[in-house]
Amino acid sequence: MNFNESIEKRRTFGIISHPDAGKTTLTEKLLLFGGAIQSAGAVKNNKIKKTATSDFMEIEKQRGISVATSVMAFGYKNKQINILDTPGHKDFAEDTFRTLTAVDSVILVIDVASGVESQTEKLMEVCRMRKTPVIIFINKMDRDGKESFDLLDELEHSLTIKVRPLTWPIGMGDRFQGVYNIYQKGLNLFSANKTKIAEDVYAVEDINDKELDEIIGEEPAEELREELEMVEGVYDAFDREAYLAGEVAPVFFGSAVNNFGVKELLDTFCEISPSPRGRITDLRPIDPYESKFSGFVFKIHANLDPKHRDRIAFLRVVSGTFERNKFYQHIRLNKKMKFPNPTSFMAQDKSVIEQAYPGDVIGLYDTGNFKIGDTLTEGEKMMFKGIPSFSPEIFQELENLDPMKSKQLDKGVRQLIDEGVAQLFIQQPGNRKIVGTVGQLQFEVINYRLINEYGAKCRFVPRNYFKACWITTDNEAQLETFKKAKHNLLATDKDDNLVFLAETTFLLTMAEQDYPDITFHKTSEFMLDK
Ligand code: G4P
Repeated sequence: MNFNESIEKRRTFGIISHPDAGKTTLTEKLLLFGGAIQSAGAVKNNKIKKTATSDFMEIEKQRGISVATSVMAFGYKNKQINILDTPGHKDFAEDTFRTLTAVDSVILVIDVASGVESQTEKLMEVCRMRKTPVIIFINKMDRDGKESFDLLDELEHSLTIKVRPLTWPIGMGDRFQGVYNIYQKGLNLFSANKTKIAEDVYAVEDINDKELDEIIGEEPAEELREELEMVEGVYDAFDREAYLAGEVAPVFFGSAVNNFGVKELLDTFCEISPSPRGRITDLRPIDPYESKFSGFVFKIHANLDPKHRDRIAFLRVVSGTFERNKFYQHIRLNKKMKFPNPTSFMAQDKSVIEQAYPGDVIGLYDTGNFKIGDTLTEGEKMMFKGIPSFSPEIFQELENLDPMKSKQLDKGVRQLIDEGVAQLFIQQPGNRKIVGTVGQLQFEVINYRLINEYGAKCRFVPRNYFKACWITTDNEAQLETFKKAKHNLLATDKDDNLVFLAETTFLLTMAEQDYPDITFHKTSEFMLDK
């Protein structure tokens, strides 16, 4: 197989959902179809258990196990599929956002009863910003839930994306009979079955055929005909280009736990989803088909076990071929590095690889050289853009409890920030360290790791901020006035960008009104345009 074919066959994507919608179950079924695992339960056991929310050591232990499932690769119908796992726990949302920079498309799982939930909205916002193509899987059709047209309306409004059903459910809950595949004109009948992966499929070329009445009953058949007519009336025909541009999301209905609707989803996914795409750098856009290797680090996983203090940096290959033991340029450090043990992740196994292609994610053992967003190339001095930071939601000031250990504390904090555990803002006077996170759990992680890895003791004092907004403006005079008026609420981020720490929504709105020429960004994504 030549280089171009190796790229074209790859599909790198992430599955996202609000916790409990069925992401883990769906992932597992996809792996079963791909033959990557032999039995159900293999992925599930690695899942961060919901009950453990306050016990971070337990979560870390499980996170450790789940490194192996961070990337799950398998072959299906001539395609090489890479699923990038995203943590469901909301305190690790930032991890998920960063993982989304390394995928080329996304499958969004929605629970038919719950519809769009808070986490779903936030994740979709990230997809929209990056124009990531999205397929929606409406799960748990074996349970009663929202009426299909209402749910599709809700998706369009809450997620600000057009939708287009490609399958249509016949009933739901106890009356759920299966789905009609609009795209392939077939009827798939449902039978609750958690282990079998085959479905009863009938080709129904013409839905007006009386055969349909015989199979699913007269009334449901009539209802289906009416609903399909409405679907065709309400929604534009499926347009792959619009999907690839992130403008329309095809929708599938099914029941992951019963293996129902998963095969259609996977088959259609293979047909329509994008092969690896390029990425932009501060210098120029990079095409995956370029012969020279380039890639970026989007995630760092630290091992909490003091006997194994190694870290794994996850690198997405953007262009060219990555080769084991070849020297590459670490752009930020301006240093040549080679990697004797790059690993790929095949379901539960980690194995050393010789080569990797665009779309692949590889694990590089690291002793502290990498931070999130780092770029490796064959020498060209460029940095990939767009590993976004989002405004944290909880802010606490870090106080050093042992002045003799302030060097260790500084080093430890810097390392943890590089790994993306939290964000750090420096406030003047006095270089005060304000740590921002999306969840309380991170503070426990930081505290624990500073003591255990760096011997540094600290204390967190809550600070009452609501959002950190990056600010930009062309109006220097207005910026100066703003700085004078708000000096006690200003800070700088890790790259020395100016940040406004707003105390309430109201005060943020006031600032926006009072300083109309200043833009207040809630994510650092605007730097893409810089
Ligand atoms: P998540 O990763 O998005 O958090 O969700 P997960 O797959 O863990 O699924 C959450 C719960 O929903 C699980 O039940 C799972 O079995 C169930 N589920 C998934 N798909 C379907 C479906 O199509 N129909 C129905 N009725 N349930 C579904 P649980 O009780 O939390 O866990 P378990 O004890 O069943 O493993």
